[in-house]
Amino acid sequence: MMEAMLKIENLYSGYGKMEVLHGVSMEVRKGEIVALLGPNGAGKTTLLNSVFGIARVFKGSVMFSGENIVGRSPYKLVRMGIGYSPQLNNIFPNLSVVENLLMGAFIRRKDLSVKESIDEIFQLFPEIERRKNQKAKTLSGGERQMLAVARALMAKPKLIMLDEPTAGLAPKAATTLINKISEMRDMGITILLVEQNIRRALEIADRAYVLSSGEIIRVAESEELLKEDVEKLFFRQS
Ligand SMILES: Nc1ncnc2c1ncn2[C@@H]1O[C@H](COP(=O)(O)OP(=O)(O)O)[C@@H](O)[C@H]1O
Ligand SMILES: [Mg+2]
Repeated sequence: MMEAMLKIENLYSGYGKMEVLHGVSMEVRKGEIVALLGPNGAGKTTLLNSVFGIARVFKGSVMFSGENIVGRSPYKLVRMGIGYSPQLNNIFPNLSVVENLLMGAFIRRKDLSVKESIDEIFQLFPEIERRKNQKAKTLSGGERQMLAVARALMAKPKLIMLDEPTAGLAPKAATTLINKISEMRDMGITILLVEQNIRRALEIADRAYVLSSGEIIRVAESEELLKEDVEKLFFRQS
């Protein structure tokens, strides 16, 4: 059995005094795409925020490559190889596309290979290369989301966490982005994907966890969940 790259055990976390997650355990193994599904307000973003040192952890552990990372700053976590494309405010609207990408590479400012990384990223996202000198706020919704993901890739993460990358996108743009996420996995990046679009997420994920009211209520292979009505699980009585 492959060792987990990310292993969360019995996690209780939230904000201030409010507990949002009540004993969550999950793992992401090297090379996997793991989907995190659940209704609005379930705590999906809070889970990612807990890994990334933003939410407050009350109890439990978050292990990354065998080290407990609870209490580490986002800056340190990025250096360790965790990338995060948040749900909101994930780009700098008044900076150009290239400037946004450079912000993503802040941990390796003196690294001469930054330019090469930008070229590699433009191979994956030719859509945004065409707009490289435009301010990010002038991009379409799909292009902005690509930029947010691309920016997180600039730090060369081993694990990338994507929070609803396809939210608000037209079906075609969402499909394009989902296919790119699958390509990222083929490039060797491990992915934790929060999605509202259950079917799209399950089509590229290996496994999925279903979170409801701060608890994991289901974990299964994507293939299995594709045969079920996952949304029905969201609103089960507890
Ligand atoms: N920064 C915050 N401060 C306080 N409460 C928050 C904050 N962010 C989210 N919450 C609360 O935490 C709960 C879970 O939210 P969230 O993790 O964003 O859910 P999801 O991403 O699944 O929609 C909600 O009740 C929400 O109001
Ligand atoms: Mg959320």
